Amino acid sequence: MRFEKVCLITGGNSGIGKQAAIQLAKIGFHVIIGVRNLERGEVADIREKSGKDDVELLQIDLSSKKSIIDASHELNNRVVKLDVLIHNAADFDISRKQPEKSVDGMESIWATNHIGPVLLTDLLLDLIKKSEQGRIITIASQGLVMHPTMTVDLDDPEFKNRKFSVSNAYYQSKLAQVMYTYWLADQLKDTNVTVNGIRVTNVKVDISRYPNISGLMKLLYSIKSKFSISPENMARTYTYLASSTDLSKTTGKYFNEKNKPVTSSAYSMKKENIDAVMELTMKYLN
Ligand SMILES: NC(=O)c1ccc[n+]([C@@H]2O[C@H](COP(=O)([O-])OP(=O)(O)OC[C@H]3O[C@@H](n4cnc5c(N)ncnc54)[C@H](OP(=O)(O)O)[C@@H]3O)[C@@H](O)[C@H]2O)c1
Repeated sequence: MRFEKVCLITGGNSGIGKQAAIQLAKIGFHVIIGVRNLERGEVADIREKSGKDDVELLQIDLSSKKSIIDASHELNNRVVKLDVLIHNAADFDISRKQPEKSVDGMESIWATNHIGPVLLTDLLLDLIKKSEQGRIITIASQGLVMHPTMTVDLDDPEFKNRKFSVSNAYYQSKLAQVMYTYWLADQLKDTNVTVNGIRVTNVKVDISRYPNISGLMKLLYSIKSKFSISPENMARTYTYLASSTDLSKTTGKYFNEKNKPVTSSAYSMKKENIDAVMELTMKYLN
């Protein structure tokens, strides 16, 4: 029987997720990284950099309901409890000009960044409740501060009848995650499970992951990277939220990269808006 804390982090193959996996393994977590591509699994590197062997892979494609269901069954077979679930994976291919469809026929950014995490939480909730103090951590973006009037389009979240913009699709999905965080924290307020979000700031992106972007975009990204922090530094907030004993009773909060609680837009905090977004979300799950 293993007694260490178990953390599942999605999108642990690269960027902030990989750095968080290294940090969490280092401090003694049994880390499971959720990846869509097992071949690319960075487990060996995470083990080497953390000095711990307790890292494993779980195949999951957050844009596919079947993959999420299969992964949740697999996880239930592997562990008896889940202490921390970090919804880090995200689709934000900045070169995309047209909406792409997931295998389920859903717009891929909405599917991967919002519907997938909600379904995954739902399927793993019993496992998380078996933890002495379970933690669910969602990931949003500081870029939302630049879109204070953004709303979730309840009639057309998938851009079927409006002009697609990868940026609007991405920020809409992250806004929905912020609202989901508040909603879920409220739903679970009488349990041992806390739910908090992270407002990720500008973090250096490995631009080689986007071979199709234009020269102009490459230039903009190289300028942006001068004002960005490293994935390792951003991951410290993930590690703080996953492990700090100070936060065992903190729920429904949204943290910045300095580990300080921050507010989100007025729209995102209003209960009737949250309920409307979650009603829409539940229709997708059914
Ligand atoms: N970098 C920033 O400046 C910034 C700013 C604000 C918010 N964020 C947020 O921070 C988080 C981490 O971003 P990052 O900068 O570390 O980016 P990243 O290196 O591109 O990491 C994203 C991860 O998500 C995975 N992923 C994408 N689609 C997936 C799917 N359908 N199923 C499973 N995994 C999938 C990717 O897997 P593959 O390896 O298979 O592609 C990758 O490992 C994201 O939620 C992002 O939205 C980042």
